Amino acid sequence: MSELIRLCRRDELPAEGQAKEFSAAGRTICVATLGGKPLALDNVCPHRGGPLAEGTIERGKIVCPWHQWEFDLATGAGTPNLKAVPYPLKLVGDDVLVEI
Ligand code: FES
Repeated sequence: MSELIRLCRRDELPAEGQAKEFSAAGRTICVATLGGKPLALDNVCPHRGGPLAEGTIERGKIVCPWHQWEFDLATGAGTPNLKAVPYPLKLVGDDVLVEI
């Protein structure tokens, strides 16, 4: 069963084309802003646990800083074929909620 948890204030979201790390419910979450929309993945890279929020964003994907694997920010689909866990976000008033 999933639940909505407050992640941050809207004005704390990263700038366009940037990523930032947040914590919620004991997890670390990578939030990136792409085309004006915030997108979230689990911050722990499914390869060997690299911190995705410290990576760069290229062509709609976040590039892990450890071994440069790429993960689609909208779906978590990765290259090679490991998937990062995506988390839906919801904007409610000044708050950003994450569905975990
Ligand atoms: S830990 Fe992320 S690509 Fe290896």
